[in-house]
Amino acid sequence: MQHLLTGFELDQDGYLKLISLAQSMKADPKSYRDCLQGMSAALMFEKPSLRTRTTFELAMFNLGGHGVYLDLGKGDLGVRETVPDYARNLSRWVDCLVGRVFKQSTLEELAVTGSVPVVNALSDLYHPAQVMADFMTIKEHLGKTAGVKVAYLGDGNNVANSLLVAGAILGAEVTCFCPLNCGPDVQIFCKAVEAGAAYGAKLKVTHDLSELKNYDVLYTDTWVSMGDDTPLDAVKKVFMPYQINDALVQSSGAQIVMHCLPAHRGYEITDEVMDGPKSVVFDEAENRLHIHMALLATLLNPSRVC
Ligand code: CP
Ligand code: NVA
Repeated sequence: MQHLLTGFELDQDGYLKLISLAQSMKADPKSYRDCLQGMSAALMFEKPSLRTRTTFELAMFNLGGHGVYLDLGKGDLGVRETVPDYARNLSRWVDCLVGRVFKQSTLEELAVTGSVPVVNALSDLYHPAQVMADFMTIKEHLGKTAGVKVAYLGDGNNVANSLLVAGAILGAEVTCFCPLNCGPDVQIFCKAVEAGAAYGAKLKVTHDLSELKNYDVLYTDTWVSMGDDTPLDAVKKVFMPYQINDALVQSSGAQIVMHCLPAHRGYEITDEVMDGPKSVVFDEAENRLHIHMALLATLLNPSRVC
C-alpha cells in the first residue's frame, strides 16, 4: 500500500494485518514508541474534526514522530497556491500527508503530485480510516469480521460508502437501509460488490425497513454531512423512520450499536441507545488512535512492523 485514498488499496490480508497490529499497539504501545522517530506528517484539514485530528496527531507522537496541523478551513487549499504546489512543498519537509478534504479529487491530486504517502482522513466520498477502526471494534466485540451482518441506517454518505468497501473486502454482510434517492454512491457500491466477490461478501441497499431482522451490528451517522448546508430539521421527516431507537434495536436483534460520531442525539440516534448497554461508540472513537498508529507505521516504516 502506497497511499490510503479509498480503502480499495488493501486486500483482506492487508485489512486483517492492520487490525491485528492495531490490537498489538493497543495492548503494548510502549514497544512501538520509536517506530517513526524523526518522521513527520502534515495534517491538512479543510473541515472541522475532533476525533480524526486528535488521533492522527497523537498517533504520530506515540510512534516517536510529529504531526503538523494545517488549518485549511478558510479555503486556502488550491487558492493561496495550487494543490500540486502544496504537495510539492510539503513533500520536501514531511513523510506523509493526511488530508480531510471537500473533494476526493484533491487527495488524488496530492498523491499524484507529491512524493510521500497520502492518507484520506475523510472526503466527500470516503472515510476509510474510520471504518478500519470500526471493523477493529467489531472484531473486539464479536470476535470476527467475516460473515458479520452489519445494517447501516440513514444517509448513504462517505461513511456508508466506506463501510461497503471495507465490509466487502473483509467478507462481511453489509446492508444500507436508506430513504429512496439517499443511497450510497452507485459506482462505489458496484466496485465494492466486485471486490467482495472473492471473499463471500454480501452487499445490499434497500429503503425497506421490514427487512431489518437478524443483524449483528446497527450503524448510523449524521443525516447531514459537513459541506451540506441543509438544516438538520429539514431532513427530519424523510430520515426519522431510520432513527436508531430502543424499539428498532430490539426488533433488529443487534448485539452492538455503532456511530462514527459526532452524534446528533434525538435525530439519527436516541440518548437511550447511545448511552445504553449495546452502544460501542466510544470504543470506536478510542480505536481511531490505535488503527491510525498501525496505518502510519505500515505506510512509513513497513520493514519495522510488516
Ligand atoms: N468520526 C470522525 O471522523 O470524527 P471527527 O469529525 O471529529 O474527526
Ligand atoms: N458523514 C459525516 C462524517 C463525519 C465524521 C460527514 O462527512 O460530515
